[in-house]
Amino acid sequence: MNLDELREKFPITRSYNFQNHAAIAPMSAPAAEAMAGYARELSEAAYLRGKYYRTAEQVRALAARLINADPAEVTFVKNTCEGINYVANGVQWLTGDNIVTTTMEFPANAYPWMVLEQRGVNLRRVDEEDGRVPFDRLAAAIDNRTRLVTVSVVQWANGFRIDLTRLGELCKAKGVLLFVDAIQALGVHPIDVRAMNIDCLSAGGHKWLCAPEGTGVFYCQRELIGHIKPSQIGYMCMKHPFEDRVTRFDPAELHDDARRFDSGVYNLAGICALGASIELLLDVGIEEIQVRVKQLTDLLVEGLRSKGWRVASPRTASEWSGIVSFSSEKYNTDELRKHLRNEFKIVLAKRLRRLRASPHFYNSTEEIRQLIDALPAH
Ligand SMILES: Cc1ncc(COP(=O)(O)O)c(C=O)c1O
Repeated sequence: MNLDELREKFPITRSYNFQNHAAIAPMSAPAAEAMAGYARELSEAAYLRGKYYRTAEQVRALAARLINADPAEVTFVKNTCEGINYVANGVQWLTGDNIVTTTMEFPANAYPWMVLEQRGVNLRRVDEEDGRVPFDRLAAAIDNRTRLVTVSVVQWANGFRIDLTRLGELCKAKGVLLFVDAIQALGVHPIDVRAMNIDCLSAGGHKWLCAPEGTGVFYCQRELIGHIKPSQIGYMCMKHPFEDRVTRFDPAELHDDARRFDSGVYNLAGICALGASIELLLDVGIEEIQVRVKQLTDLLVEGLRSKGWRVASPRTASEWSGIVSFSSEKYNTDELRKHLRNEFKIVLAKRLRRLRASPHFYNSTEEIRQLIDALPAH
């Protein structure tokens, strides 16, 4: 697929220079079509005979492929937080246990763990240094009462990416669980839950996966599934969800796979869209996407620096991501963000007083240059 063909699949490119995928990304055209197809059929058919539940199984398999998991280890969530809560509320914590995390986390990956302090679990938040989570500090925070490490693969504000392979090795060696919030990475950076020793992962679909809000993927490593107690019980979590008369709840009757975290019906419209977008990303290839995002963000960083902007995003080979944050002492970043949008249809975000650009694989180098040109120099 050449770039023109690819851009056709993102109708947003007709009206905006959109570089805000770290916020709410535009849906791909195939995703919008899949969603509309479901809506059309549902509005016309009296009963869809489980057709879209079969689609959901295909999407589960696609999502599993994306992270090199088994489909039985994957289920759908409505957002990242839902998956985080499955783990935070499902592990059988003991008083005095601790969880290691960072001070950089987006609140979604902070509050669900913080609330556990009321249950006697200590949260150890490792301080950042120069926009990075120092690996040694993270390692030093783990002791014999640490049960779990939780981090974002890519940090929401400055785009720092943690070395997951190294972290996975560390957690495995120390015998602690590794949970990752992957929403700012999935769809750009290859994630291999096996090779990286990731125990659980949650990622909403509405950023780099180009799916709508209300969708997401949750992964739980096979051997762990039975040890994380489902914190919400419905009927779709049961092996026989449609029993006529239920008399008692038997935990042995919960699904043995990740569906044990389900409750009731699925967000099928969203799942159709999520599937179509994941399929598109896999067709292009995640490695290919990563290379493309690297080229675009390198170009942007170079242009920003040449105009005197201060780039706050770590850019080394193992730390860069699709997020480029930059700041200025001289300009009001909020005014500038509005100006870029109103005058040039360039869409960025402002986070922690910085401008944040997050271009995806279908953005063009011309769009990056347009952004650089539109920014004032220092
Ligand atoms: C690292 C991170 N986690 C989670 C979220 C969003 O969480 P949710 O999908 O539950 O809305 C964001 C959104 O900005 C994020 O940057």
